[in-house]
Amino acid sequence: MTRTLTILGIETSCDETAAAVVRRHATEEDGTARGEILSNAVFSQIEAHKRFGGVVPEIAARAHVEHLDGLIARALREADTHWSELDGIAATAGPGLIGGVIVGLMTAKGIAAARNLPLIGVNHLEGHALTARLTDHLPFPYLLLLVSGGHSQLLIVKGVGDYQRLGTTIDDAVGEAFDKVAKLLDLGFPGGPAVEAAAKSGHATRFALPRPLINRPGCDFSFSGLKTAVRQASEALGEAGDQDKADLAASFQAAVADVLSARTENAMALADDIIPQGMRRLVVAGGVAANMMLRDHLTISAHAFGYELVVPPQKLCTDNGAMVAWAGAERLALGLSDGLEISPRARWPLDPDAAPARGAVGKA
Ligand code: KG4
Ligand code: ZN
Repeated sequence: MTRTLTILGIETSCDETAAAVVRRHATEEDGTARGEILSNAVFSQIEAHKRFGGVVPEIAARAHVEHLDGLIARALREADTHWSELDGIAATAGPGLIGGVIVGLMTAKGIAAARNLPLIGVNHLEGHALTARLTDHLPFPYLLLLVSGGHSQLLIVKGVGDYQRLGTTIDDAVGEAFDKVAKLLDLGFPGGPAVEAAAKSGHATRFALPRPLINRPGCDFSFSGLKTAVRQASEALGEAGDQDKADLAASFQAAVADVLSARTENAMALADDIIPQGMRRLVVAGGVAANMMLRDHLTISAHAFGYELVVPPQKLCTDNGAMVAWAGAERLALGLSDGLEISPRARWPLDPDAAPARGAVGKA
């Protein structure tokens, strides 16, 4: 039995500056624990990056410096929690844009030293991976499809710090592909919601786009060929009108849905021996999990394989401080914390034993 832990979590690895206070109650017999989000303050830097059509690392790091102190004060105030009531400070220590990670981790180190609190350096991906235990009280193991602006991975989540990666992207992440397609169709930033909105009035069968790797074994992803096919189709149209853009957005989204479903089906087949019947849950996390059309497809695939689909609420799927605080609490409950010498990491795979995806360039 562990005690109740109240943790401040800090997230600065991309373009959200975030701080949250989360409470983890005592560990129950099945290894789960009840969680409570006392506050979850997020400042989105979208406005600062919009005119560049993507996140500019230097601007992001400076914005984290400007906003983080205020967000931490707000998170504590909204949680009605005093420094003295905290049991630990968790901060994303990677992977991510290194300037931002440095801002968050160094701030956490300063607080931990000044307040004499344990410091927990959290892997951002572990934050996404464990969110479903906070929101849905899930026991280990479960299957995770992590789809965000930086990552596209299929993992078996076996325990805290214990992951088996089944597949990852060999080029672009799926959210990145949405953002790039939105940019080339001039639909706005961030691209995911813009593409989804445009696709609503589009015909998904008008453009025959490729479905990379779809009939191949394994669980790796590739999205750059699909993105190139969208660009070529758009160039072939010349001056694309609103209906053309909607049709292209819908055709692109349908191709992504087919790919994600097919690769996740391969993962469910592979996980058969590892995840016992009665525990078969597919968790979808990361910003792309907000896409309703993709969710519908994944629900059908999950049910066909006897899995329940679990998608945390949208504001906990996109980057936030609560997921970092929760991952920190899960680690601290196991007696895990870090010394002040911990270094920020731009790359930090969840499963260090996983073979790199064939052809992978620069992705964790
Ligand atoms: O998890 P997240 O907030 O940040 C990262 O860790 O990357 O994910 C952001 C990504 C962006 O690429 C954004 O375009 C995508 O999630 N996204 C979506 C949707 N909403 C956000 N992609 C597709 N459909 C959406 N509705
Ligand atoms: Zn993320």
